[in-house]
Amino acid sequence: MDIWHVRGGSRLFGSCRVQGSKNASLPVLAASMVFPARSLIRNVPRLLDVDAAVSILSHLGCGVERGEGELYIDSTGACATQIPRELMEEMRSSVIFMGAMLARCGEARLSLPGGCQLGKRPIDLHLSAMRAMGAEISEEGSDIFCRAEKLHGARIELRFPSVGATENIMLAACAAEGRTTISGAAREPEIVSLQQYLCSLGAHITGAGSDTVVICGASPREETDFTIPGDRIAAATLACACAATGGQIILSGAKSDHFLTVLHFLNEAGCDIIHFNDIVEIRSEGRLRAPGSIVTAPYPGFPTDAQPILTAALLRAEGSCRIIETIFENRYRHISELRRLGADIRVSGSEAVLRGVKELHGATLTAPDLRGGAAMVLAGLCAKGETRVIDAGHIARGYEDLDDTLCALGAEVWIEHK
Ligand code: EPU
Repeated sequence: MDIWHVRGGSRLFGSCRVQGSKNASLPVLAASMVFPARSLIRNVPRLLDVDAAVSILSHLGCGVERGEGELYIDSTGACATQIPRELMEEMRSSVIFMGAMLARCGEARLSLPGGCQLGKRPIDLHLSAMRAMGAEISEEGSDIFCRAEKLHGARIELRFPSVGATENIMLAACAAEGRTTISGAAREPEIVSLQQYLCSLGAHITGAGSDTVVICGASPREETDFTIPGDRIAAATLACACAATGGQIILSGAKSDHFLTVLHFLNEAGCDIIHFNDIVEIRSEGRLRAPGSIVTAPYPGFPTDAQPILTAALLRAEGSCRIIETIFENRYRHISELRRLGADIRVSGSEAVLRGVKELHGATLTAPDLRGGAAMVLAGLCAKGETRVIDAGHIARGYEDLDDTLCALGAEVWIEHK
């Protein structure tokens, strides 16, 4: 069990390069087995969730070699069609291997995926889309068995722009006969990078980034060299950390366009922000003003993944603000913990009301999930004395060396591995 120790009070100064994106890497890793091919994938972050995806690929018969920030995947020998339960439970993105296995082998045996406990997180949209493309699916308890002699194109209307369902459909549709149209598709940057990767291997896909994605099979190629984009949520986390503690930092490697809504709120809260392409400079006096209402929404709206993090940054802001979480039913589990630091936040259903306090004091908190854990570290940076975050292993699922990055910027944090 990891325990993070955070001693509050330091301002952050300096520059740093943002890690490669977790949520762009995971679908690309699943996609690497759709065609028999060799992929060199660059800028892959070292994370527990990436380790989990690598374990699944190896289990399915792919060769995977790691270099410095790179993965070399040879999927020419992929043959297995079953993912053991313990691998499925390691992360949510394991479910995207369903589309990949169906495309490549016509069969997929798996169980319900794991991941952060943010609410019900059903996979009905994934399953109904696979059925619409001709897959027969049987479910027994949490076991799922999918089979398709031949997938065919379909018109799929998503009732909600699910990121994972859009990705799963894109993967399966690469092997379908005819055209697949996804209406109401997710528009996140991770969908765009998945399209770019699949197209680099010969898939015919257009529309990623809009609400209609069209997939017309593929003329497969044997190899590709692809670079994962910077992580917009890791960038938002560092920007929020500087905003909260005060200081001046320059981030490079993540496109500012991809987290503009977060930058917008930091600017409203009183930070000076200059951004161009993938460089962002944030300057903060460390005493923020609470902005108006923050409402999470699918991209290009305010990201649910940044909600706990911006909340933590605003705990000492002047005034009050409302936070409304619209994506997950259970994404406020960090709040009762943040109150131990002296924060004034009340939750009622999907709404939280935050009143800024003058001072936070260190305490021992338990990380409920990945972003909630990161939020606690940020709050600890602004608290008097030492904050301990226990059960903090979640943080390593999505952040590469966050402790080293924060220390290099002047923070006092260290991890105790127990
Ligand atoms: N949903 C359904 N049915 C489905 C699929 C989704 O009702 O079949 C609902 C979910 O229950 C949820 C909403 O739709 O209420 C959004 O789920 P979505 O499928 O869009 O999320 P996801 O693919 O499971 C990805 C990210 C999450 C991020 C969400 C929303 C990855 C690996 N995960 O999850 O990232 O919060 O999109 O943007 O890409 C994180 O990085 O900390 C994280 C949780």
